[in-house]
Amino acid sequence: MDYRGKIALITGASSGIGRVTAVAMARRGATVVAVARREGLLQELIDQCRPYAPKSVYYCGDLGEREFAEGIVDTTVQRFGRVDFLINNAAISKHKQIYHMSADEADQVMRVNFQSTVWTTLAAIPAMLNNDGGTIVNISSFASKVSPPREVMYAASKAAMNAFSEGLWNDLAGSNIHVALINPGPIDTEIWLKEDEPPAYNGKKYPPEIVTNAIFEAIEKRRFEMTIPKRNPMLITARVLRLFFPSLLRFGMRKSDPIPTDVIDRARQRAKRGKRLGDLNDE
Ligand SMILES: NC(=O)c1ccc[n+]([C@@H]2O[C@H](COP(=O)([O-])OP(=O)(O)OC[C@H]3O[C@@H](n4cnc5c(N)ncnc54)[C@H](OP(=O)(O)O)[C@@H]3O)[C@@H](O)[C@H]2O)c1
Repeated sequence: MDYRGKIALITGASSGIGRVTAVAMARRGATVVAVARREGLLQELIDQCRPYAPKSVYYCGDLGEREFAEGIVDTTVQRFGRVDFLINNAAISKHKQIYHMSADEADQVMRVNFQSTVWTTLAAIPAMLNNDGGTIVNISSFASKVSPPREVMYAASKAAMNAFSEGLWNDLAGSNIHVALINPGPIDTEIWLKEDEPPAYNGKKYPPEIVTNAIFEAIEKRRFEMTIPKRNPMLITARVLRLFFPSLLRFGMRKSDPIPTDVIDRARQRAKRGKRLGDLNDE
């Protein structure tokens, strides 16, 4: 595929998968529109892209805000006249026990991980229709298939993204807008360092490049759904257990990341004091 002259809007481009994908897009000649909150990192990224894609730009802001999410698409279309690839990649994990999760935190995970995808997508469809097509790539997670311990909201946001992507794929048939859904397994990025509570997983993590390669494969071969890494025994086993033996999977998860009885006891005490979940102030 010839990427020159194409416009790629990538959310969550300041680090990890988004950043690697942005550089790879620029190297292929596509103009990158990079979005995230950390301006210094976005500026560095754009400096790296410009030798290959001189018109590349960044927009800095919070994708949890609908106005900003819609605005980045509108501004891109005003500036470049089109958007060819919309890569919805930004996310936060909020890795914590449900007993410690506030309603505001749950809301924030849904807004950043899922709602922002809806907002950018709805804003981008008319522009893609005007230009006879485009590709929307949604970066979900294997957690959408098997919800790991302490990832209840993250997994819910990704499962919503998967259902949205599937419906979109069906609804956009015949429009020349392709929809792709990528479910990464453990990838070696800074998301693991931003966890609110320590992650139990200490197995192999794969380089972000494998997800970037899957994004290009999805665009070029019009794949719908891909789990990355492909044919990974750990992911296949987890999926089979989830489908056919969910109680066994739950047992295994409790073994690998037990819920200490004192966590439940303290939550019970807070409940007796009439506290809401996530209100840990007087502990
Ligand atoms: N790494 C893994 O093991 C793994 C596994 C499965 C799925 N994934 C998915 O892969 C995608 C990329 O994650 P990653 O691993 O590359 O992690 P990452 O390095 O932490 O990247 C997350 C990106 O999202 C941006 N972001 C977060 N909150 C934002 C907000 N409110 N507004 C705008 N941008 C925001 C971050 O930038 P700022 O902080 O600068 O805003 C950052 O660029 C995510 O959708 C993640 O769920 C990752």
